[in-house]
Amino acid sequence: MSQFLPEAIQLYIPSTIQLIYLVATGFFIVGIKRLGSPATARSGNQLASFGMFMGVVVTLFDQEIISFEFIIAGVILGALIGAIAAKKVQMTAMPEMVAVFNGFGGGASALVAWGEFTRLDPTLFETQALVTTGLSILIGSITFTGSFIAFGKLKGFISGGRIALPGQNYINLVLTFVAFGLVGWFTVDPEYQLVFWGLFGLALLIGVLTVLPIGGADMPVVISLLNSYSGIAASMAGFVLGNNLLIISGALVGAAGLILTNIMCQAMNRTLLNVLFASFGGGDDAAAGALADGDKSIQETYADDVAIQCSYAKKVIIVPGYGLAVAQAQHTLKEVANLLEEKGVEVKYGIHPVAGRMPGHMNVLLAEADVPYDQLLDMDQINPEFKSTDVVLIIGANDVVNPAAKTTPSSPIYGMPILDVDEAKRSIVFKRSMNPGYAGIENDLFYSDKNQMFFGDAKKSLQALSIAIKDLD
Ligand code: TAP
Repeated sequence: MSQFLPEAIQLYIPSTIQLIYLVATGFFIVGIKRLGSPATARSGNQLASFGMFMGVVVTLFDQEIISFEFIIAGVILGALIGAIAAKKVQMTAMPEMVAVFNGFGGGASALVAWGEFTRLDPTLFETQALVTTGLSILIGSITFTGSFIAFGKLKGFISGGRIALPGQNYINLVLTFVAFGLVGWFTVDPEYQLVFWGLFGLALLIGVLTVLPIGGADMPVVISLLNSYSGIAASMAGFVLGNNLLIISGALVGAAGLILTNIMCQAMNRTLLNVLFASFGGGDDAAAGALADGDKSIQETYADDVAIQCSYAKKVIIVPGYGLAVAQAQHTLKEVANLLEEKGVEVKYGIHPVAGRMPGHMNVLLAEADVPYDQLLDMDQINPEFKSTDVVLIIGANDVVNPAAKTTPSSPIYGMPILDVDEAKRSIVFKRSMNPGYAGIENDLFYSDKNQMFFGDAKKSLQALSIAIKDLD
């Protein structure tokens, strides 16, 4: 595009491009910072998108661009697919969408490295360019196939169970060492094409073999990790192309993905190694809780009774979980909260960091129903409040309120921080059955004297509750 400008201006183009890249980087950083709170997340997303738009537009002035036709066709096609996906994909299917995006991101970085390798003479590459080409192929290809396996597991196209050969973890470890060895070989002997293609093929295989053994329910953590890989691969591709914006934005994605993976693991009280190498939960049979069978009796309740308890309460805390998302009951929940507030009841929401199936799942869900952000309290903020709460409504949440995390050392979730709903005067659990949640373990909260079970689909139960509250007037 720059060739259409006067020569005097063309001289300044490279430095102007770098300057605008710097401004775009600023937009990314402020954007990511603002994603830290639900109140500022929307504007954070817009700022980061604007930074990316600036980056894309200014890159079109790069003097090395040979043809614009493919770029414009790619921009139109990509924007179209992105817009349709953003409108159509259900909130519960967001992890699948992110998996696909990561896969394409990793694949694109590998293709960039491949393109530069075939377009130019690799023997003229400096060592740094050779190393980053190799790493871009390696990490990008692992991300590509790994992400699509994760997508298949979440969608149910591939079994969510552990699919592995005996000693699979060791096989993967050996293959990873071999792959890094091939990166080294490629660096010293880039002319030997077989090494390049061997590395490409092996990396694609490693992506498949490392994600296949991981249980479907752990996929959100894996996807977050693959997100980080896609950023690192993009950063490597940035080195290959000598593009500063790609280096920085890739590094930001890589770091953000790693931090998020770490937060998710901490909130589940599991190590990343445990997620990657051990199968966890998701089974059909619930592992028993600490209570003996004789102590297990539940109190069932119904809409009219819940309506009376909530309407005469001073303070009600709502604890949302995965089941709220499955039932798509967020709007009905907000309607119930509005009715209670009209009666003078103080309503707050307690958000566990890993409630649902993706980071921020509950925040996004409740924001969709226009729940005010200041009513959404993090675990640390809400936990001291349960003692002074009359009724806690637990809507489709299970593991995040399971007292076994505090009381049962043998439990797989022992040590996981939970919402202290058992400290409230009354808890009421909305779910369809006594089935376990994600971790596959029984929940002794259900048998507590202070707890009642309201069985049914969360949306239908909340609709019945809404009618019952109105009937009290
Ligand atoms: P879960 O423990 O998975 O429990 C969800 C409950 O919702 C189930 O017991 C289910 O019981 C109920 N449910 C499902 N559909 C329902 C419907 N239509 N109506 C009413 N209830 C319904 O959920 P949680 O408490 O949100 O905990 C999340 C779990 O996922 C944690 O163990 C966490 O470690 C894990 N995890 C989270 C993430 C992130 S980042 N959020 C990532 C990976 C893993 P019924 O079948 O009886 O209805």
